[in-house]
Amino acid sequence: MKIIHLSDIHIHSEPILEHNPIERFSLALEHIKNNHVNADMLIITGDITHQGDVVSYKKFDEIFTKANLPNHLNPKLLIGNHDDREIFKNFFSTTPTDKNGFVQYDIEIKNKRFLFLDTIEANSHAGHYCGKRQLWLQEKLEESLEKKQHVYIFMHHNPFPLVQLKSDLIGLVDRDQFRSIINNFSNIIKHIFFGHQHITVSGNYLGIPFSSPRSINHPLVPNFSNEYRLGSANTDPSYNIVLLNDDSLIIHNEDFLKTNINWFETTTPGSL
Ligand SMILES: [Fe+2]
Ligand SMILES: [Fe+2]
Repeated sequence: MKIIHLSDIHIHSEPILEHNPIERFSLALEHIKNNHVNADMLIITGDITHQGDVVSYKKFDEIFTKANLPNHLNPKLLIGNHDDREIFKNFFSTTPTDKNGFVQYDIEIKNKRFLFLDTIEANSHAGHYCGKRQLWLQEKLEESLEKKQHVYIFMHHNPFPLVQLKSDLIGLVDRDQFRSIINNFSNIIKHIFFGHQHITVSGNYLGIPFSSPRSINHPLVPNFSNEYRLGSANTDPSYNIVLLNDDSLIIHNEDFLKTNINWFETTTPGSL
């Protein structure tokens, strides 16, 4: 199975940090069209727009339609702190929601279950995961345990600080509650995918592997200081390709602006 993981497109009519999100999203889709139409799923983990306005959602839709990707790559969408839940739901009326109206849903494919979480709260850039949403997650995980499924979690916010708490004010506020839920299911949760911080990062949490691609528009750099700050260094944007096999899960980072590739052949393999 092959999954395309994009995050933080930030569609906006103006450049952000001197980068044009409309142009970069179009280039990312063109790169996908040229390289990955054999993927099984395309997932976008939030911050689809920069200001959550309907004009930007329309623009997103227009760019996506214009890219003319095959139907099976219609994106599975999550919302981020720069999106607006109600405007999103009105515009993307076919995206499922849970019984409380949060943009949370799941997909089951054979013995795998993909969970898409809603971690936003209006007027906050930090992540929030209230009791109602926690209950939804708990129930889905219990069902999967019963069905002996492998679970893959997709969310916008990082559910734990990526360096230290003091320097990560926009991560998940309800991280302790989230931790205690997933800790009970760490044997069936095979990966946590998120975005939000606009950096490439991977590792494991409670024994569960995780990964995050950079933004499609404006990558940031990791912050190893003791205080909250954001920085950019004109790093290339990227998306991730996830290769899911019976015995492995492999993540590739696609620098989609780099299209001028020199595929050279050697007559003797390994002669570099
Ligand atoms: Fe973002
Ligand atoms: Fe975000």
